[in-house]
Amino acid sequence: MSMPPSSNSTTDAPLYEAEIDLAPIKARRLVIVGYGNHGRAHALNLRDYGVEAIVIALREGSPRYATAREDGFDVMDMDRAAQWGDAFSILAADEAHGQIWRDHLAPHHRAGKAYMFCHGFSIEYGLIDPPPDADILLCSPKGPGGAVRATYLKGGGLIGFYGVHQDASGTGKALALAYMAGVGCGRAGIYPSTFREEALSDILGEQAVLVGGLVALARQGFETLVKAGVSPRMAYIDSVHEIKYLADLIHTRGVHGMYGAISDTAEFGAHRVEDKIATALAPVFEEISRDVISGRFAQDWVADFEKDRESLYRARAAWKDHPLDAAGAQMRAMITKWEG
Ligand SMILES: NC(=O)c1ccc[n+]([C@@H]2O[C@H](COP(=O)([O-])OP(=O)(O)OC[C@H]3O[C@@H](n4cnc5c(N)ncnc54)[C@H](OP(=O)(O)O)[C@@H]3O)[C@@H](O)[C@H]2O)c1
Repeated sequence: MSMPPSSNSTTDAPLYEAEIDLAPIKARRLVIVGYGNHGRAHALNLRDYGVEAIVIALREGSPRYATAREDGFDVMDMDRAAQWGDAFSILAADEAHGQIWRDHLAPHHRAGKAYMFCHGFSIEYGLIDPPPDADILLCSPKGPGGAVRATYLKGGGLIGFYGVHQDASGTGKALALAYMAGVGCGRAGIYPSTFREEALSDILGEQAVLVGGLVALARQGFETLVKAGVSPRMAYIDSVHEIKYLADLIHTRGVHGMYGAISDTAEFGAHRVEDKIATALAPVFEEISRDVISGRFAQDWVADFEKDRESLYRARAAWKDHPLDAAGAQMRAMITKWEG
C-alpha cells in the first residue's frame, strides 16, 4: 500500500446542524459496539438528540456492562446485537476490529447494513474487508470520548470528519452526517475526509508529535539537563512539568499567540533553535510516515495484539520507576492536592 492522503478537506466548507437532517439515524436500529470513552459519549449524545433505538454490544464479561445498564441502555452480546441492528458504530479497540468483524458481525451481515468507524485504521489497513453491499462510513469526532460528551453538555461539540468509503445504499452520506450531528459535531462543524486521510493523520500525529515525539523531547531535555549537573527535580520542572502550560497556551491562542504570551528571552531562544530541531527530526518523521502509509505499523501492531500485547506491555513496564517519573513524583502529588 503506498498512497498520499486523498482529500481536499482544507478547502471544503464545514456543515452545521441546521443543514443536516437527523431522520436517517433516527430511522435505524443502532448498535454501539464497545462502551469505552467514545462508545458511552456517542450513545448518550445520540439518545439526547432523540435517537431511540440504541443497543450497546459488549463482549462477554465486559466491565462496562453495569455502566451501560445504569445509563439506561439495553445491552446485548455481540451476536444478538449483530442480528438486531441495521447500523453499527464500531467503537471497540481498533486492533480488535478484525476479530469482532470475523466472529460476530460478518456472519449476520445483510445487504443494506451500515458500519461506522471513528478512526480509519481497520478499513485502511485491511483488518476488515467489507462486502460490497455494505455502507462503510467514517464518523470521527476529533478528540477523546470524554470531550465528546463534555462539550455536548455545555451546548457545543467537537469538530468532526466524515467519509464515505462504500455507499451501497446510496444514502451513506446522509447517514454519516446524521450520525455526526447526533454526536454533537454539527454544533462545531463537520468536514469531509477519507479513511486514508484520517488514519494517516491520527497515527502519524500521535507517534511523531503527541505521544512518541512529546515523550522523546521531554526525556531528551531531562537527560541533557541532568548530565549538565542540574538536579533531577529542577530538570523535571523545566522539561516535563511545564509542558502543560505551553500546551494550554497553544491550544487556546495558537503558536503566534503563545509566543506573545511568554517571556521575550524564551521566545528569542526558541526562534534560534526551532529550525535546527525541525531539520534534525525531518528524516525521522519521514520514516514514521512511510511506516504508517505502507501499513507496516498496522501489521506490527495487530501481530503484537495477537500475542497478547507482549511488546506493548514490555515497553510500558520499562517506564515504571523511570528516573524522570521518579523526579516528578512530588510535583505530581502537589498538583493532585491543589488542582484535583
Ligand atoms: N477521532 C478521534 O480523535 C479518536 C480519539 C480517540 C479514540 N478514537 C477511536 O474511538 C474508538 C474507541 O476508542 P475509545 O477511546 O473509546 O476506546 P476505549 O475507551 O478503550 O473502549 C474500548 C471498548 O472496546 C471494547 N473492546 C476492546 N477489545 C475488544 C474485543 N476484543 N472485543 C470486543 N470489545 C472489545 C472494550 O470492551 P470492554 O468493555 O470489554 O473492556 C471497550 O468497551 C477507536 O476506534 C479509537 O481509535 C478516535
